[in-house]
Amino acid sequence: MYKAREERYESMKYVRCGRSGILLPRIALGFWHNFGSVDNFENQRAMVHQAFDQGITHFDLANNYGPAYGSAEENFGRIMDLDMRPYRDEMLISTKAGHDMWRGPYGDGGSRKYLMASLDQSLQRMRLDYVDIFYHHRPDPETPLEETMEALSDMVRQGKALYVGISKYSAEQTKKAAEILARNHTPLLIHQFRYNMLDRRYETEGLKDTLKELGVGSISFSPLAQGILTDRYLHGIPEGSRAARNHFLKEKDIGAALVEKVERLNHLAGERGQTLAEMALCWNLRGDHLNTVLIGASRPEQIENNVKILEGTDFSEEELKRIDEILAE
Ligand SMILES: NC(=O)c1ccc[n+]([C@@H]2O[C@H](COP(=O)([O-])OP(=O)(O)OC[C@H]3O[C@@H](n4cnc5c(N)ncnc54)[C@H](OP(=O)(O)O)[C@@H]3O)[C@@H](O)[C@H]2O)c1
Repeated sequence: MYKAREERYESMKYVRCGRSGILLPRIALGFWHNFGSVDNFENQRAMVHQAFDQGITHFDLANNYGPAYGSAEENFGRIMDLDMRPYRDEMLISTKAGHDMWRGPYGDGGSRKYLMASLDQSLQRMRLDYVDIFYHHRPDPETPLEETMEALSDMVRQGKALYVGISKYSAEQTKKAAEILARNHTPLLIHQFRYNMLDRRYETEGLKDTLKELGVGSISFSPLAQGILTDRYLHGIPEGSRAARNHFLKEKDIGAALVEKVERLNHLAGERGQTLAEMALCWNLRGDHLNTVLIGASRPEQIENNVKILEGTDFSEEELKRIDEILAE
């Protein structure tokens, strides 16, 4: 029987999520990869234990994480029953709907029909009475935003979700969503978006300023660019790596020019006394504009390594300039 480490809250840092009452750990664990029915269940369990033992209280899922679709939630439900039930009130669990999930016209998008049914399915698979955060996973220009946001508000009223969030919405769409939610007396808790040294649109396309202005929390996904911003691919494509699976990250995406940049970043990280993964996560968290980095992992040791960053999130002007120069070349 799993027993959580007594000291789990001693080193993790927690920050307020926007202007809400919720504290987020600076590092959260996502279930997009390596938690499906094709993956080793005992390794999944060990990753959840490792994360929770390190003070990671936030676990992020979605209806279609797997493969197969739904299986990451099912595996999470098994882990809840086997190990984590006594800790439910110490955990912040999120799920989402918005991408392709089931066949026919009601298993994708932003309709009330899809979102309501999907949340019910997710709760069953995860063996939960409620989720802490329910996200609309991506904007759906075909559905009136009022319909999508009202569905989110109603989930909160029904007690099936405590808070709501959105993912991959532009700055403009975020403002509109927040306004509709506010009219429905449901604050927009959080926005989830891709942000890392190789993708800075959150900064350059106005989302960063918008979230600050609205008092909405922020969590960045793929902070390691799916593993590119680590030492994983410096010497080719290792067996079992995400690029070797050649699906969401393709071997062809890891070209010589990119590897050369990554080598130079790796060198700079070494000068700071960090691994590249550590430096990449610290870079995301620098300056405290972002609440949380949402990492993925394929084994418990990666989680153990990645939580070491919490003391190293400061960069000198010179270091930031060098990173910009390496990436601009
Ligand atoms: N809202 C959305 O649309 C959306 C989209 C994408 C992701 N997400 C969320 O964000 C989470 C994280 O995304 P992500 O998995 O792409 O994040 P990531 O942290 O950028 O990439 C994780 C991968 O990096 C590698 N890695 C991690 N730590 C490492 C270390 N210390 N040394 C070497 N390699 C390391 C592992 O690759 P290997 O597997 O090769 O070992 C791991 O699977 C997802 O699980 C999901 O919850 C949300």
